[in-house]
Amino acid sequence: MAQIIDGKAVSAKVKEQIRKEAAEIKKQGIEIGLAVVIVGSDPASRVYVNNKKKACEEVGFTSYEYTLPEETTESELISLVEKLNDDDKVNGILVQLPLPEHIDENAIINAIRPDKDVDAFHPQNVGHIMIGDFNFLPCTPAGVMELIAETGVDVCGKNCVVIGRSNIVGKPMAMLLLHKHGTVTICHSRTKGLAEICARADILVAAVGKPKFVTPDMVKEGAVVIDVGMDRDENGKLCGDVDYAACFDKAGYITPVPGGVGPMTVAMLMRNTLTAAKIKNNIM
Ligand code: GUN
Repeated sequence: MAQIIDGKAVSAKVKEQIRKEAAEIKKQGIEIGLAVVIVGSDPASRVYVNNKKKACEEVGFTSYEYTLPEETTESELISLVEKLNDDDKVNGILVQLPLPEHIDENAIINAIRPDKDVDAFHPQNVGHIMIGDFNFLPCTPAGVMELIAETGVDVCGKNCVVIGRSNIVGKPMAMLLLHKHGTVTICHSRTKGLAEICARADILVAAVGKPKFVTPDMVKEGAVVIDVGMDRDENGKLCGDVDYAACFDKAGYITPVPGGVGPMTVAMLMRNTLTAAKIKNNIM
């Protein structure tokens, strides 16, 4: 039977530590600000943005929200990003993805000043992560690493399998596991023998975006199973990429959805924002 990794509890611990550090910095008259930009009215994005604003309140940051209509043009959005780049009150800029189809996401990501890119999506920051010399960690993969650390399982030398190869999760996830000396395999939609590869994983990270994709035959006895998915099952109920109930007895450790990776992503965003403020103010 698996032990549940409680992302809510771990994220609360991390946020409390950030709150204390931010309070110390505030004593020097420094305010920490995060700008969150949302374009359109995607309900899931709305929930994520609200969670980010709430976390800012919890840790004592100021959040600046910009809600733009669906028809916003690419150049209008770039103008806003440029304004935020130059705004001294803003330490971090987050443009919620996905953006409407008529806006090129890469153009927006490239417009964010790398020292305010608290998502770590800018190519300059991606390069730093690849090399292993970085200020900002990609939020979701960093949150996953914290959850793995919480189990006490050492990544060093372990078979780690990441399902999914997105720029936001899969690729940087593989890199962070590699930095901790894991032996990493990235699986994706064209991988042959995916189930067998997963079944050899000591640490399995599912980031495919398909409800209950990971079934017990894909889980090694006692494995650490981390579920990055935020999906809807056949009844419209929130679920992850892992068939949680079915895999529960086989896994050694497992994250629930909700209450696993989700809260950690937000906590890591707060950490990156604190880092940006510290660097700007030469506090290290
Ligand atoms: N959409 C889904 N996850 C994320 C994230 O971590 N950052 C941003 N900006 N958009 C997202």
